[in-house]
Amino acid sequence: MEKDSPESSGAAPFWHARFDREDYVYGTEANDFLREQAPHLGSAATVLSLGEGEGRNAVFLARLGHRVTALEAAQAGIRKIHALAARRGVTVATLQTDLADYRIAAGQWQGIVSIFCHLPPALRREVLGQVVAGLECGGVFIMEGYTPRQLAHGTGGPKDGALLLEPATIRAELDGLDLLHFAEVTRPVIEGSLHTGTAAVLQVVALKP
Ligand SMILES: C[S@@+](CC[C@H](N)C(=O)[O-])C[C@H]1O[C@@H](n2cnc3c(N)ncnc32)[C@H](O)[C@@H]1O
Repeated sequence: MEKDSPESSGAAPFWHARFDREDYVYGTEANDFLREQAPHLGSAATVLSLGEGEGRNAVFLARLGHRVTALEAAQAGIRKIHALAARRGVTVATLQTDLADYRIAAGQWQGIVSIFCHLPPALRREVLGQVVAGLECGGVFIMEGYTPRQLAHGTGGPKDGALLLEPATIRAELDGLDLLHFAEVTRPVIEGSLHTGTAAVLQVVALKP
């Protein structure tokens, strides 16, 4: 049976194995929620994308004129980010690192994006704290991820409930940001071969005051 979450040795081997193929397993088009909410980023923003994967969201943002840095653990993801960017005629800077080994610099980013970047609870809490500190005043955080209600749908995402986003917990972890949009919704998430239908997600747009 295919595993659905990384081992404790870190995220990179699991995700490298998943991405080390020709096709883009989450597709090459940006996530719908990010497309809707991207106007909150303004124009020509410095944007950090956490767990960027194979590049679809970073390339979308770069095509809007943003200066995008894609943080991704997996080597195959980094390769595909650059390949997709080249195909679409844009440049995306990449950082190949595990979030556990990286510290988001304080006050550095006008935008931070996290799309289906599911982390173990202690690391997630740490990273979301760094997101709050890492945004400039007026900067915006955009996140979408599966909630524990997704386990009943079976259309994608981790099967380990600890990796899923419980809204009350995330709200507390984003203390310090103003929540412009914070909603648990059920919507179709159909992205590549691994996000395949009706899904329970948490959507967040938050502003650093
Ligand atoms: C479900 S994929 C989503 C990829 C991309 N955001 C998208 O929506 O297409 C999760 C991504 O998070 C990355 N990731 C998970 N844990 C990570 C960690 N600890 N450090 C860095 N990246 C991580 C994985 O490598 C993978 O690319």
